[in-house]
Amino acid sequence: MWVWSKLSAIQWLDAWEERLYGNPNSVISEIKGGKSIRVEVYCEQEEEAGKIREQFGGSVRELKSRNWVAMSAPKSEPLLIRDRLVISQVPVKDGDHEGKDVLVVPPEMAFGTGDHATTSTCLRYLVDHAAELDERWSFLDIGTGSGVLAMAAKILGAGEVEGYDFDGKAVEVALRNLERNRIEGITFYEADVFEWDTDQEFEVVVANLFSSVLVEALPRISKWVSAGGRLILSGILKEQWEEVSVAAAGAGFEFLEQKKVGKWVSAMFDRKK
Ligand SMILES: C[S@@+](CC[C@H](N)C(=O)[O-])C[C@H]1O[C@@H](n2cnc3c(N)ncnc32)[C@H](O)[C@@H]1O
Repeated sequence: MWVWSKLSAIQWLDAWEERLYGNPNSVISEIKGGKSIRVEVYCEQEEEAGKIREQFGGSVRELKSRNWVAMSAPKSEPLLIRDRLVISQVPVKDGDHEGKDVLVVPPEMAFGTGDHATTSTCLRYLVDHAAELDERWSFLDIGTGSGVLAMAAKILGAGEVEGYDFDGKAVEVALRNLERNRIEGITFYEADVFEWDTDQEFEVVVANLFSSVLVEALPRISKWVSAGGRLILSGILKEQWEEVSVAAAGAGFEFLEQKKVGKWVSAMFDRKK
């Protein structure tokens, strides 16, 4: 394991967070009493870390594996979604969280332990929308990361569930999480939203991706959402919302609502009938 790191002034925190959004191997820590930040990206290959140094400066060092474990230490505080779902980064005992469904998703090399605003808003939207659906609905998770949204959909009553990611490591993690949570009936696979295609339509589709990816992929995504079906988008920075909402309207979606958390926007749409 190799780590690229760079020190930066605190005023660049937002810029770094945006730049590294979606990278599960990045860590930003405040140092010097909150006046500065240390930005780190953990890489399996030295070459990968070297490329980041070429782009942003900073330094690269080899990392002892015990540091890597320490860096990814799980948070013990679970995330509660609408009094219905609990997402825990640490194992739970039978009887913990009585009356709620629990998903255990430890931090690994895939985005999606649930605590990022973009994921937690998708989870809230999913819980709310699932309560409105009575039949077993089909669900597609584009850019599944840890698989947390697909697993939540299954628990919330989805029938057929698929999730894919162009990062093979994320797919490995998602499959591990399925086993860990003893969930069956989800297909996770490696695919790129710009290459993957299907004739099948899903009743609920979620895509928590960069705005630029969403804008370009929306005409494709629209074919995979059934008429009247629900699309949940996330990972949109406030200043990119306008562009994404115009692209969604152009791809045949009717805007329902949006939620801002910090600098992130998530939104729900229905595909026009
Ligand atoms: C922000 S994470 C979201 C993970 C998870 N769905 C969640 O909500 O927590 C975005 C994920 O999309 C994947 N991704 C990015 N671009 C993609 C593409 N073109 N095709 C498929 N997956 C992509 C990334 O590898 C990453 O795992």
